Amino acid sequence: MVKDLSIQELEERFQEKINKDIKIEPNDWMPDDYRQTLIRQISQHAHSEIVGMLPEGNWITRAPNLRRKAVLLAKVQDEAGHGLYLYSAAETLGADREETIDDLHSGKAKYSSIFNYPTLTWADMGAIGWLVDGAAIMNQVPLCRCSYGPYARAMVRVCKEESFHQRQGFEIMAHLAQGSPEQKAMAQDALNRFWWPALMMFGPNDAESKHTLQSMKWKIKRHTNDELRQQFVDVTVPQAEMIGLTIPDKDLKFNEKTGHYEFGEINWDEFWNVVKGNGPCNKDRVETRRKAKENGAWVREAALAYSEKRQNRKSA
Ligand SMILES: [Fe+2]
Ligand SMILES: [Fe+2]
Repeated sequence: MVKDLSIQELEERFQEKINKDIKIEPNDWMPDDYRQTLIRQISQHAHSEIVGMLPEGNWITRAPNLRRKAVLLAKVQDEAGHGLYLYSAAETLGADREETIDDLHSGKAKYSSIFNYPTLTWADMGAIGWLVDGAAIMNQVPLCRCSYGPYARAMVRVCKEESFHQRQGFEIMAHLAQGSPEQKAMAQDALNRFWWPALMMFGPNDAESKHTLQSMKWKIKRHTNDELRQQFVDVTVPQAEMIGLTIPDKDLKFNEKTGHYEFGEINWDEFWNVVKGNGPCNKDRVETRRKAKENGAWVREAALAYSEKRQNRKSA
């Protein structure tokens, strides 16, 4: 009987389950901090998927041909689906969806800093798919083994779709890089602008990351920010070389001894500035989401009124 156990015993049993890689399910007992950490992480993740639709949605009407348009449209729709799974996963922990979304609109909740950068050219669709979805995969593949069941299971499908997103972006970049000098320059410019913000997606250095240790003990996280960032650099640099583009980092070099690339210092002032709401597009992104909710209010009201009408008719 759960009632007969002290909090300490419950916590010990909980950690034992985690150590044995047994998934935690919505109705299982869990420490409040575990629940709150997951609600924060999953809702931030959901917001990132939804806000992440905006920079690319901007280019759907301007895709260079029908094939590119169909692919981009499918990709952006996938992101909407990811957002919906994740809001549902947060709800299994007791989060209220309306409140969660209001927190995004009030600025209380965060989302990935990368989506506060503008998309200036078509090549940015390539850079985002290749780098941003590529970084997302690095972060999300280990989440398929996260200790919380609903989040882990949602990630399995999400990661399959992210892999398509990464490849469609790389294909755009490879194509432009082999095109006219203007097209190649456009691809290089997009890489120059998105490289560093993509590295920032992994979050602060391990020494600065306040949640990492506890999250790893709970097996929400399986690798530290710096480990994932290194993995991303190691995979991505050879891809850039393969298509003849240059990573914008003069300190980048391969270390034969470690088998890893060494890279330059990230501009953390820029990172924190964007996280605090002062990036190039923060205000614009939140305002667009807020307006979307406002403009859709009549749909929600009409649906509610209709269901009430039906209910009344049934009881009459
Ligand atoms: Fe996604
Ligand atoms: Fe994606």
